[in-house]
Amino acid sequence: MFPMGSSSWVGIALFFLAFTASCFATEVTYDARSLIINGERRVIFSGAVHYPRSTVQMWPDIIQKAKDGGLDAIESYVFWDRHEPVRREYDFSGNLDFIKFFQIIQEAGLYAILRIGPYVCAEWNFGGFPLWLHNMPGIELRTDNPIYKNEMQIFTTKIVNMAKEAKLFASQGGPIILAQIENEYGNIMTDYGEAGKTYIKWCAQMALAQNIGVPWIMCQQHDAPQPMINTCNGHYCDSFQPNNPKSPKMFTENWIGWFQKWGERVPHRSAEDSAFSVARFFQNGGILNNYYMYHGGTNFGRTAGGPYMTTSYEYDAPLDEYGNLNQPKWGHLKQLHAAIKLGEKIITNGTRTDKDFGNEVTLTTYTHTNGERFCFLSNTNDSKDANVDLQQDGNYFLPAWSVTILDGCNKEVFNTAKVNSQTSIMVKKSDDASNKLTWAWIPEKKKDTMHGKGNFKVNQLLEQKELTFDVSDYLWYMTSVDINDTSIWSNATLRVNTRGHTLRAYVNGRHVGYKFSQWGGNFTYEKYVSLKKGLNVITLLSATVGLPNYGAKFDKIKTGIAGGPVQLIGNNNETIDLSTNLWSYKIGLNGEKKRLYDPQPRIGVSWRTNSPYPIGRSLTWYKADFVAPSGNDPVVVDLLGLGKGEAWVNGQSIGRYWTSWITATNGCSDTCDYRGKYVPAQKCNTNCGNPSQRWYHVPRSFLKNDKNTLVLFEEIGGNPQNVSFQTVITGTICAQVQEGALLELSCQGGKTISQIQFSSFGNPTGNCGSFKKGTWEATDGQSVVEAACVGRNSCGFMVTKEAFGVAIGPMNVDERVARLAVQATC
Ligand SMILES: *[C@@H]1O[C@H](CO)[C@@H](O)[C@H](O)[C@H]1NC(C)=O
Ligand SMILES: *[C@@H]1O[C@H](CO)[C@@H](O)[C@H](O)[C@H]1NC(C)=O
Ligand SMILES: *[C@@H]1O[C@H](CO)[C@@H](O)[C@H](O)[C@H]1NC(C)=O
Ligand SMILES: *[C@@H]1O[C@H](CO)[C@@H](O)[C@H](O)[C@H]1NC(C)=O
Ligand SMILES: *[C@@H]1O[C@H](CO)[C@@H](O)[C@H](O)[C@H]1NC(C)=O
Ligand SMILES: *[C@@H]1O[C@H](CO)[C@@H](O)[C@H](O)[C@H]1NC(C)=O
Ligand SMILES: *[C@@H]1O[C@H](CO)[C@@H](O)[C@H](O)[C@H]1NC(C)=O
Repeated sequence: MFPMGSSSWVGIALFFLAFTASCFATEVTYDARSLIINGERRVIFSGAVHYPRSTVQMWPDIIQKAKDGGLDAIESYVFWDRHEPVRREYDFSGNLDFIKFFQIIQEAGLYAILRIGPYVCAEWNFGGFPLWLHNMPGIELRTDNPIYKNEMQIFTTKIVNMAKEAKLFASQGGPIILAQIENEYGNIMTDYGEAGKTYIKWCAQMALAQNIGVPWIMCQQHDAPQPMINTCNGHYCDSFQPNNPKSPKMFTENWIGWFQKWGERVPHRSAEDSAFSVARFFQNGGILNNYYMYHGGTNFGRTAGGPYMTTSYEYDAPLDEYGNLNQPKWGHLKQLHAAIKLGEKIITNGTRTDKDFGNEVTLTTYTHTNGERFCFLSNTNDSKDANVDLQQDGNYFLPAWSVTILDGCNKEVFNTAKVNSQTSIMVKKSDDASNKLTWAWIPEKKKDTMHGKGNFKVNQLLEQKELTFDVSDYLWYMTSVDINDTSIWSNATLRVNTRGHTLRAYVNGRHVGYKFSQWGGNFTYEKYVSLKKGLNVITLLSATVGLPNYGAKFDKIKTGIAGGPVQLIGNNNETIDLSTNLWSYKIGLNGEKKRLYDPQPRIGVSWRTNSPYPIGRSLTWYKADFVAPSGNDPVVVDLLGLGKGEAWVNGQSIGRYWTSWITATNGCSDTCDYRGKYVPAQKCNTNCGNPSQRWYHVPRSFLKNDKNTLVLFEEIGGNPQNVSFQTVITGTICAQVQEGALLELSCQGGKTISQIQFSSFGNPTGNCGSFKKGTWEATDGQSVVEAACVGRNSCGFMVTKEAFGVAIGPMNVDERVARLAVQATC
């Protein structure tokens, strides 16, 4: 028997918990030179990982890979629209369990940055605002409006209290070292006039009153009320200075790549330029860099922002959409982090001096009181390489648009333009067993809408999201018109002015046509229609494709046919304006209401299996069972052949698709000149002339071992003939390593290096996939690498002349500097 009553045990346990929490409380303070964590000056590398953009099952691996990549912290926004989809009805289940996400971060030994917003932008639907909020009478979002401020405070307080209860703030022993209120408000503040200034002061006070025990930040807020620390977002933030000279210089969003919209090419930002931006920031006194994104992930369901954000939110982040290492970016940044960390104590303490060498070459020296030095040598000229003579500290070759990090100011430990990390070329692999799909189909039932029957009527053309609360992309607008004189109206023009994003029209149940906005805004739809004598029914289907997420008053951007006008123009320009007709409305599709995406059989729903599935038919549901590809590699579904719609696996939405939208054929190149300021869309694009997104992520946790069900809702017409499930694997891996640096090769997902396809130590030329031997090479080039790597998951060694058995003695000029190029398969 226990000697003590159970209540005493609880008492002791509670005491122990309280004790351990306070015992490990972390003190976070700061001054102009750094964050000071438990008395220690720190430089912090952090990365954005948005918990709803992956699955709970993916979180530990993503966080571990972030840690392995040299990060100290993980950052995430909080997504109000997901957590409070209906006012005062909260959801923190599944991948919305942000507490669990932050606990996993803590378990991994990392810090966290909590960006509450609660406006988040993030290329997320409506910037993270729930629609009920927008639809509240009298509300004005993001300004000095009592209704809005009240809701913002209630949500913020809820999130803070949940974090406090879980002891997530550093002050409680948790991982969160910084928290953010609002988001990039300074960018658009002037549009809100004086009310904007009052609002941002209120935000600061409201946040401070939350009493979280760690500093608050406001990004892009040049007039941040003290003690809020203003921070910088952008592709480069080296010239940024916080408004308070006592605030540390922090880069809350280093845009490591860029987002993609439907119809756009896939953007990339080079590893070299990404590293350049980070190194320049630390050279100029920065102390915290947060990558936006470190893992971009997937916009599942209808969470993609707009207009027109793609389902993939890969962002060219160091971890790809599926959580694989995006190489060489991941590895190059890892080496950069390690190099900068060598100078952590000196950068955050020492005095800084800059020496100008002309033509945009600058040496920045940090000197500690104990005399230790740490240097950044930068060449910001975008075309001219430099050779810099630092006298007793050495001679350095400094490529254009690069920064060299000099440990002790005399030893090159890293150059942003010299990439030694491996390149991984990911490929999609088909698994024949899962690729024989048999399709069942069912048309979207339109009997009601073709007859103008909706759920309610009003003499007005209503704004779409205010009516739908965004529970669906689709809204039917229906009206009828009584025609007397067919000589005027037998061949009339139907003209619809819509605010977007797509429009489909029917007259008397006959399909008239379809049009979508090229850029996601308003457009006019015009088409000849034949009207009959008597009553004619006009049916319009409007669809949104992600609500706007950015810009001053973006929440007021209208969607749908809002106000129209909708007109019929007959002979002699006789015009009937239907805008104030009696309009009937129906929100969403019948198939959505019947949950056709759900694999459970539904009453009154019979999928057609005995007739061939239709091709090119709009508003059609398709269903197929499939066997998941075996193994653990990430799974994608290839939707080539389909048009536009949404896809579900086992009832869970994997997002919208728009496979038929082909990107421009120009503006891509095989090579990417990293030099010069990165501007999205202007360089380093890929995927020209292809569907902007062809493959869609199916997280492993959505899949079952035996039977799985894929359902597609096809809006504009397509052919599912070639839909197939594939896995994403590492195909070819390559590395080009300078003599004196480390060769590291690894396959992902437990695979081993099976073959060395090319290896040359000398002066090889070309790139991954097209390496060629140079004018000289070591005879052992191939065998040395084979011996070290084949059959292993990863391998590594220092690339030296000794390792390749090259005699070190008098040699030809071009043999003085050697490098190794390797191409292998996993
Ligand atoms: C820098 O380091 C010295 C010696 O370790 C210490 O006395 C001084 O307080 C530090 N300065 C700052 C700004 O932390
Ligand atoms: C870069 O160097 C070139 C060659 O010296 C020079 O002509 C050019 O003006 C420099 N660029 C900038 C932006 O200073
Ligand atoms: C057709 O005639 C009816 C009855 O006179 C009238 O109400 C209606 O407005 C007319 N339609 C048009 C398009 O003029
Ligand atoms: C309707 O009128 C337009 C313009 O006159 C003409 O091009 C079109 O062929 C006509 N359509 C029908 C069905 O008569
Ligand atoms: C779209 O809206 C803009 C701005 O409100 C307006 O200038 C333009 O004329 C509109 N275009 C169409 C096709 O309605
Ligand atoms: C109809 O209106 C358009 C534009 O308003 C004009 O260009 C056209 O000449 C008109 N046609 C007739 C027959 O009045
Ligand atoms: C399916 O693939 C076959 C073979 O590549 C091709 O001929 C056919 O056009 C494809 N069908 C569609 C709908 O893309």
